[in-house]
Amino acid sequence: MAYQNFNMDHQWLPFTPNRSFIKDPRIFVAADGMHFTTHDGRQVLDGISSLWCVAAGHNQRPINEAIKKQLDTLDYATAFQASNDQAFKAAEMIANMAPGDLNKVLFCNSGSEAADTSLKVALAYHRARGEGHRNVFIGRERGYHGVGFGGMSVGGIPSNRKVYGAAMLPRVDHLRFIHDPLHPEHTHHAYINGVQPEWTEDLLLELENRILPLHDPSNVAAVIVEPVAGSAGWYLPPKGYLKRLREICDKHGILLIFDEVITGFGRLGVNFGADYYGVVPDMLNFAKCVTNGVIPLGGVICTVRIYDAMMQAHAGSPEHAVEFFHGYTYSGHPVACAAAIATLELFKQENLFARAGEMGRVLGDALHSGCKGLPNVIGIRALGLAGAVELAPLPGAPGKRAYDIFMDCFHQGVLVRPAAENIVVCPPYIVEKAHIERIVNVVADAIRKHA
Ligand SMILES: Cc1ncc(COP(=O)(O)O)c(C=O)c1O
Repeated sequence: MAYQNFNMDHQWLPFTPNRSFIKDPRIFVAADGMHFTTHDGRQVLDGISSLWCVAAGHNQRPINEAIKKQLDTLDYATAFQASNDQAFKAAEMIANMAPGDLNKVLFCNSGSEAADTSLKVALAYHRARGEGHRNVFIGRERGYHGVGFGGMSVGGIPSNRKVYGAAMLPRVDHLRFIHDPLHPEHTHHAYINGVQPEWTEDLLLELENRILPLHDPSNVAAVIVEPVAGSAGWYLPPKGYLKRLREICDKHGILLIFDEVITGFGRLGVNFGADYYGVVPDMLNFAKCVTNGVIPLGGVICTVRIYDAMMQAHAGSPEHAVEFFHGYTYSGHPVACAAAIATLELFKQENLFARAGEMGRVLGDALHSGCKGLPNVIGIRALGLAGAVELAPLPGAPGKRAYDIFMDCFHQGVLVRPAAENIVVCPPYIVEKAHIERIVNVVADAIRKHA
């Protein structure tokens, strides 16, 4: 089945070079397991779980069946002043998977909405406790929290920010980035395989000694970080970093938000990054894998402490008073939640998180043995079922080398992801050793070709 004639005049593609896309389009028309079929009838191996989403592989029958059944039972129901059975069940399953007292799920539809929701909860929570002056947010350089104004403001990827200047949140600061292999004592951080990088300096001293005193800790609402910096190119936090961040936040009454849109639901071989690093945040943002990518769903898991504070603040309000003026028309959509329930059951039945951990070790070894020493490769980082090969930038053309390699891999039938100067690989958890070998061979050949 090959489709050739597309009218490409009308879709404006997201985060894509539109002008060149139409000259060499990449259009999928079907998918099953680890592979896509393209419009011109080729098979392409999905080396990135379709943007970190399709953890269980494509076309999973139990998920498809659950969606079809839900459509015939309850297609949609208003989310305000009412709810649906699937949303409660999905929230219970998600809360049960989350660590500590992360127990209250606010649903939305995407990672961007989860970011903005969590920032709004932070402001509302502090105000509910009589600390409305806490309105400073702290993100991190090269962090990615989606494209809403809140998430973009706390995010730290320059190209996503530079056009929007004054439209961003006014009181935001950023932590230093977590990777610096040019530092003379950190050269060994360039190549990391399944271990936590150790720093000789305390990377969070600047938070305590500069950022917090500058704003005064009593004004800071929340710190938001990704446990592992995903969109920037899979950069790992230094050993002990997240624990120390938790301690600093606790000391000053600051909320800690983990954006686990990428690290959530098994990518590190366990439920969440919070479990992997043994640190429980006050809010945990999720999206992507929760429905295996088939229907948009995201959310913020909040501690009971946050929820209770918001409810208690309204103890004297009339019964009909809404406690938190926030939500989306499609929050807890029954079909999305039915997909989530089926996805989470499938993860458990097939023991897919453990498999992600196991295959992650295969991927880490394969990337290091297959790509280290190739022309222009200046680093390789692997943890969980994800890895990045970092390349020296082409002088005067930032990102071009990785883009050219990505295109080359696509033409060879393997989908990888260019992220700045990195080639990122994060396949579905059902990946086999032979798929990993193929991905790494194709990436290595493309790197040689573009030397
Ligand atoms: C950590 C993180 N947060 C938020 C987002 C934004 O998610 P969405 O594209 O669903 O809005 C992403 C997307 O890649 C992400 O990686």
